[in-house]
Amino acid sequence: MIALTGAGLSVESGIPPFRGPGGIWTRYGEPPMDGYQRFLADPAKAWEERLNPSGPMRELWSALNAAAPNPGHHALVELEDMDVVRATITQNVDNLHRIAGSRRLLEIHGNATLIRCIQCVARFERDEIDFAVLPPSCPRCNGLLKSDTVSFGEPIPPDVLEACSGEADRADCMLVAGTSATVYPAAGLPIAIAERGGDLIEVNPYPSDLSPLCRITLAGTTAAVLPVLVERVRTLRASL
Ligand code: APR
Repeated sequence: MIALTGAGLSVESGIPPFRGPGGIWTRYGEPPMDGYQRFLADPAKAWEERLNPSGPMRELWSALNAAAPNPGHHALVELEDMDVVRATITQNVDNLHRIAGSRRLLEIHGNATLIRCIQCVARFERDEIDFAVLPPSCPRCNGLLKSDTVSFGEPIPPDVLEACSGEADRADCMLVAGTSATVYPAAGLPIAIAERGGDLIEVNPYPSDLSPLCRITLAGTTAAVLPVLVERVRTLRASL
């Protein structure tokens, strides 16, 4: 079994989701789908906006900066420690799975605390980069640096995409927690597992595009449901 997580997992950490009730895009409208092309067209301007965000991005980044993992994140770490979850693929860029201690973690949409070179795909912590001149250049290959977060219209970095596909190919069960499963290629991973006859277990207070494909739907919040799942597994193991 592997896990796929989305913005719903971080709602109890104070970060609004994108869609559905209280979603950032629900309130501000979906962003342009050519974010990456806009970045390439004027990277200095894109960096100015990234370093001085306004509107929805300002709200999102300040929520991220103030957030801490919640019981949902910790429960996934416990399931990994018990070898029940073999890997966690997250669409979240909020770094909370890392802070919680997830080990086999694949951030398919990147990590907001990191900077990535679009040429050599090297990743850097913010304090390794000199922002005096924008756009900043890669200390390793002098290529163009971008926030590690994957923009709409941007290809998923090949190293992460390959690792995610590899985990999904090996899995016969996926725990799908807190995602609307509307953004591809991430949403294609559980569908591929279901099409191969694998099982999907969904944790979401509201129905999603994936619900019809799920063998089990646990209709509740991840912070409430995942710790109960951990206790059930632990009790079951103790009785074996
Ligand atoms: N616990 C669990 N799930 C929740 C909770 C909660 N407390 N609150 C809301 N949800 C569910 C919603 O019902 C919804 O199905 O979480 C889901 C959040 O969906 P989205 O906001 O669409 O987030 P996500 O699926 O992660 O979006 C995918 O879209 O905008 C891009 O790059 C962004 O990674 C993101 C991608």
